Amino acid sequence: MVQELAFAKINLTLDILGKRSDGYHSLQTIMQSLDLADVVELEKSDAIELKISGNDSLPTDENNLAFRAVLAVNKACGKNLGVIINLSKKIPAAAGLAGGSSDAAAVIRGLNRLYNLNLTAEKMCEIGAQLGSDIPFCIIGGTCLAEGRGEKLTPLPALKNFSVVLIKPRGEISTAWAYKTYDENSTANHISTFEIIEMLRAGDYGSAFKNFANVLEAVAVKKIPAIETYKNFLLENGAEFALMSGSGPTVFTLTDELTAKKIAANFEGNAQIFITKTRND
Ligand code: C5P
Repeated sequence: MVQELAFAKINLTLDILGKRSDGYHSLQTIMQSLDLADVVELEKSDAIELKISGNDSLPTDENNLAFRAVLAVNKACGKNLGVIINLSKKIPAAAGLAGGSSDAAAVIRGLNRLYNLNLTAEKMCEIGAQLGSDIPFCIIGGTCLAEGRGEKLTPLPALKNFSVVLIKPRGEISTAWAYKTYDENSTANHISTFEIIEMLRAGDYGSAFKNFANVLEAVAVKKIPAIETYKNFLLENGAEFALMSGSGPTVFTLTDELTAKKIAANFEGNAQIFITKTRND
């Protein structure tokens, strides 16, 4: 049996540079892993079986990325490996935190260990990229600039350790819907991603925080206005900035432990709140 942790991610910036001929969007996004994680246990077996606890509404067949990850590894290796996957969900689904992508990444890493497949990180990222744009980042983790459709990664220096407050409003946003609606309404200003990377490198977090932005936020707020409400709640309770992650609807801030605890203590609302930390690996 092997165990892998499937870490959640946030996007500190998310800019869309344009639409590609394959229908995807060219991105520039700074991604950051968090300690909040699903637990994925893998056991050798003859067939593929996915068992999920902590979320009753997720599929346990080919409609789940974690299941498809096994098929993708088998195809890439020319094998027919079976596995029982016990997935314990902690990361909310369809929340902008890459929960499903991270589970798939953990399955790829876990199969590599369970069956001694000797797949390089690069090969695992290549397999992951076929399943979803965020999966290569979930395989590598840490802090990265992601470009292309999200699969081209440049590792960045680790941030200082921050406490992270996540607020997941009720409702879900499908990534495909967010990008499609963005295309229909796009008037977004672009983000100075490389300047922000320099601010982070210099440890000038105050300036970086002022410049963090996500061009999908305006789209998501139209579907889930509570995004705005909870951003304001974070700002009113001592957060230096508040931003939506990915295609939403989760909002977050980076802060110190004391402020995070104060925010959690003051929180009232029909939403899930999590206090976690940034990860360096
Ligand atoms: O890659 P993934 O399967 O996670 O993407 C889900 C959907 O989000 C895609 O089908 C596409 O509609 C949209 N998407 C996009 N451009 C990206 C990433 C995702 O348009 N770079």
